[in-house]
Amino acid sequence: MPNDATTFSVKGHDAGRERLARLWARGRDVLGTEYAILGGAMSWVSERNLVSAISNAGGFGVIACGSMGPDLLSAEIDATRALTDRPFGVNLITLHPELEGLIDACIDHAVTHIVLAGGLPRGAAINRIKDAGIRVLCFAPAKALARKLVRMGVDALIIEGMEAGGHIGPVSTGVLAQEILPETTEVPVFVAGGIGRGEAIAGYLESGASGCQLGTRFVCATESIAHPNFKRAFIRGNARDAQTSVQLDPKFPVIPVRALANQASQRFMDVQREVIARHAAGELDLKAAQLEIEHFWVGALRRAVIDGDVDGGSVMAGQSVGMVTREQSTAEIIEELVDQAAAALAQRQDVALDQASTEDGSAHRAAAQG
Ligand SMILES: Cc1cc2nc3c(=O)[nH]c(=O)nc-3n(C[C@H](O)[C@H](O)[C@H](O)COP(=O)(O)O)c2cc1C
Repeated sequence: MPNDATTFSVKGHDAGRERLARLWARGRDVLGTEYAILGGAMSWVSERNLVSAISNAGGFGVIACGSMGPDLLSAEIDATRALTDRPFGVNLITLHPELEGLIDACIDHAVTHIVLAGGLPRGAAINRIKDAGIRVLCFAPAKALARKLVRMGVDALIIEGMEAGGHIGPVSTGVLAQEILPETTEVPVFVAGGIGRGEAIAGYLESGASGCQLGTRFVCATESIAHPNFKRAFIRGNARDAQTSVQLDPKFPVIPVRALANQASQRFMDVQREVIARHAAGELDLKAAQLEIEHFWVGALRRAVIDGDVDGGSVMAGQSVGMVTREQSTAEIIEELVDQAAAALAQRQDVALDQASTEDGSAHRAAAQG
């Protein structure tokens, strides 16, 4: 027989799991998964192996289309489907010059979910996807845009704060969650950016989210094809090392990207300084100077993820990188997150019950004394 403490913790564990299932039921429904955890698409990292591993572990893997054309994307969808019979999605960048062809490839391959990223999608793109019976998820970087996307008919929203790895907006996850979650009840909302542990997932679910999206935490999964140097940089990295790219002159806008500080990020500052000086001296016109700055990062993520050049490439990582401490299987990462979320929910429920019974006891005593 288990002693009282064990019985209590098993009960608590079950209660936490039940509460978790209730809190993220809408997220699970829209994704068709056991857990409402999305593996955020990461260019070069989120390919067939990691995507299928996340889906097989009960989460929702998302293929990063990045700069692939329709043929490569079609091959990746087929290869992923050969590794999992569970639901997964495809992330398309709205600015991609072949967006229409990529949507066609998804329709032809009976993809069930498309995540549109990188700017507000056109209504026509959303309608085409929905008319084909595909669910569409979009990023909402602000409250007004969340309202607009709901009106445009999206099936779910993702709100991603600036703690995230990769291209980011200016607002933190905590603030976006407070602004958007209470106002958005029509569709499920997934929270992303800076999430490394299940307790944080539990917190966002209690605030009204239907699930969460994580990227950084999955980079060092055993199934991830990221180069060992890339994984090592993540395991060594701390939150404060995941910094945003710096813009030196408002005339030369730099898209903010969060990545581990390295030689390349330092060199980027020097390049901006040199280019700005050449522009001031009349050697380069504004357009040529801007192009030179933009050109700096072309191919940089691939160099780091695939070739392992973590000094000269872009090691995109979120602030949750400090919580990546070793290589683990995807299933282990997901079970850890779910366990932590369930334990946190169980503990809060136990505390609430304890308080209720203390208050009950006091009320009885007061009544008896009165
Ligand atoms: C290396 C890397 C590459 C990424 N590439 C993409 C991408 O191609 N498309 C996209 O929508 N988001 C991309 N992201 C963002 C992730 O999908 C996810 O939203 C983000 O990582 C969540 O925040 P977290 O890093 O704090 O977990 C990338 C993130 C990283 C770390």
